[in-house]
Amino acid sequence: MTPKRIIVTGGSGQVGQHVIAYLLEKGHDILNLDLVPLPDHLAQHVHTLRVDLTDSGHVHSALTSRFHPACPFGREPLNQIPDAVIHLASYPRNMIVPDGETYRVNTQAGYNVIEAACRLGIKKIIIASTVCVYGPAYAEGEIDFPSFPVDEEVDASPMDTYAISKVCVERTARGFARRFASKGVDVYVFRIAAVIRPGEYARFLDGWKENAADFKAVGWSYTDARDFGQMCHLAVLRDGLGYQIFNATNDEIVVDGISTTEFLGKVASGVPFTREMGEKEAPLTNRKIKELLGFKEEHSWRKYYSYT
Ligand SMILES: NC(=O)c1ccc[n+]([C@@H]2O[C@H](COP(=O)([O-])OP(=O)(O)OC[C@H]3O[C@@H](n4cnc5c(N)ncnc54)[C@H](O)[C@@H]3O)[C@@H](O)[C@H]2O)c1
Repeated sequence: MTPKRIIVTGGSGQVGQHVIAYLLEKGHDILNLDLVPLPDHLAQHVHTLRVDLTDSGHVHSALTSRFHPACPFGREPLNQIPDAVIHLASYPRNMIVPDGETYRVNTQAGYNVIEAACRLGIKKIIIASTVCVYGPAYAEGEIDFPSFPVDEEVDASPMDTYAISKVCVERTARGFARRFASKGVDVYVFRIAAVIRPGEYARFLDGWKENAADFKAVGWSYTDARDFGQMCHLAVLRDGLGYQIFNATNDEIVVDGISTTEFLGKVASGVPFTREMGEKEAPLTNRKIKELLGFKEEHSWRKYYSYT
């Protein structure tokens, strides 16, 4: 594998740090665009350019930046176009700031990165979206998923601001992918579930165990932060798929001792099934990312947690 030059936005965040660690392990060269620095263990290897991604001029300039500060600069050529941009930066949920600000920052940053990447000739654009776009997570009152399994064909029509902002960025990405298809641009959208980082399994699953109904917000599914790094790596390497949306989730439902179909029949009775589901298959299914990108889970929750 030839190592790639990859720009990660929001790499200093909870998800981004694991994405960067995984990509470094695979030998890629990384530049991080963020408002805040990386922790020391990553900052030793990856430079962070402080950029407010809502400023389109800064984004244009940053996407053609050198990756490494040096004196003198000459060793790294000027104006190299990176192989890929992985756009993670956003407000990652509602109520961190007022809704209008969540919408403004998420949509403006998404637009700026997608537009600049396409215009500059970056051929691979990977966008972090969320399974919240399927609706129940931040609904006003309790609603059901339209059908199971929740795959990428299920209608994404959320009512909360965070998820609406993500749908807007997905549609922006789709439009630019169409416009720049003849230039060989691929845009892959990852709908990420609740991200669990190393050491967090007990906290998450202890909480969820108490009340299975509460799992609905996360679709009884999750995304291991390290496995998400693998997904990004695979997406960087796989060319030619055009515009694609992938559920970026792990393989299995996060309950034990009961099949997925039986469990969903109990907690979401009346919701139709569009196909037979695997015995333990995650309701927010990852079948597509396994088939198209070759994702192979390394961090099953079962390695880190037991319900007994
Ligand atoms: N954590 C989860 O469970 C989860 C679930 C689904 C989707 N996601 C998505 O994954 C991505 C990463 O989430 P996270 O949990 O790491 O979030 P985070 O808040 O930990 O990290 C986001 C990073 O983006 C940076 N950022 C925000 N606004 C910026 C701006 N205007 N300019 C430059 N940098 C900016 C922040 O400084 C931060 O470092 C987000 O797009 C989020 O919507 C996360």
